[in-house]
Amino acid sequence: MSDEPAKEEKACDENCDACPSAQQCSQPKALSRKAKIDVKHVILVLSGKGGVGKSTVSVNLAFALANHGKNVGLLDLDFHGPNIPKMLGIEDKRAVAFANAIEPVHVTGNLAVMSMAFLLKDTTTPVIWRGPMKMSAIKQFLNQVNWGSLDYLVVDLPPGTGDEALTIAQLAPNVKGAVIVTTPQDVAVMDAIKAAKFIEKIDVPVIGVIENMSGMICPHCGGTIDLFSKGGGKKAAEDLGVPYLGAIPLDPEMVKAGDEGTPIILRHADSPTGKAVDEVMENLVRLVES
Ligand SMILES: Nc1ncnc2c1ncn2[C@@H]1O[C@H](COP(=O)(O)OP(=O)(O)OP(=O)(O)O)[C@@H](O)[C@H]1O
Ligand SMILES: [Mg+2]
Ligand SMILES: [Zn+2]
Repeated sequence: MSDEPAKEEKACDENCDACPSAQQCSQPKALSRKAKIDVKHVILVLSGKGGVGKSTVSVNLAFALANHGKNVGLLDLDFHGPNIPKMLGIEDKRAVAFANAIEPVHVTGNLAVMSMAFLLKDTTTPVIWRGPMKMSAIKQFLNQVNWGSLDYLVVDLPPGTGDEALTIAQLAPNVKGAVIVTTPQDVAVMDAIKAAKFIEKIDVPVIGVIENMSGMICPHCGGTIDLFSKGGGKKAAEDLGVPYLGAIPLDPEMVKAGDEGTPIILRHADSPTGKAVDEVMENLVRLVES
């Protein structure tokens, strides 16, 4: 027999870290290989619906964890609408690329951020991202970014159940699970349950459910107004048999915080919303580290 197949296998083995077709590759090595990133806990932030607050929750959770003394990476995997840089007021920053490594944007001493937006020359020109391109970008984010040694990597995903979640679940080491963000209404909850079932199907456990925009904080007196219904997140958690991580109120300050690039957890750490974020973070840490 010729030695051709063996040669092919060897070449593939050497290159699959950077290979856009590794996911389709039939060679078991390509599938089981995990990225090099040094991280204890990878947390995926997921939802069934768009606009429920995944990016807001990701940013605030990342800050809350960093304030808690953890080394945190925040990875924006929303290629089509990378919002994280804007929410942190760092949309003009660019990641510095060395020969074989990319320096993330350091927001504080123990919080580093990476987003596709940092690699684009011009964020107003839309980029058409096809599946394999996204996959190789995700690989680079995990293999070539100088994250250092992380306790947590918080991954903000685009809405729904797409390639990004599949790819990160496959490539990242120590994926502890997904947190599902939902708003209180029934329709959102139905979608949240769907997202949870999807992620469990690809062998990523659901850590718990967060209800965002739960009740409203009055901009005048700071009291709570029950604008929408409440309790959908808890119900979704019960239906799924997973922990409920807590509720974050609908707070006009949250919108301001997002638009002005300073997360609410920094602006108003002692407000009901800031405290709610902290409580969610503490519940998460308890579940992940127990
Ligand atoms: N608790 C909250 N109170 C008030 N406004 C909020 C809250 N959470 C999120 N928002 C606002 O809702 C909008 C959508 O939030 P965000 O971008 O975080 O959602 P998303 O789920 O990441 O959206 P997408 O699906 O488009 O990625 C933003 O303007 C944000 O400031
Ligand atoms: Mg988002
Ligand atoms: Zn009031």
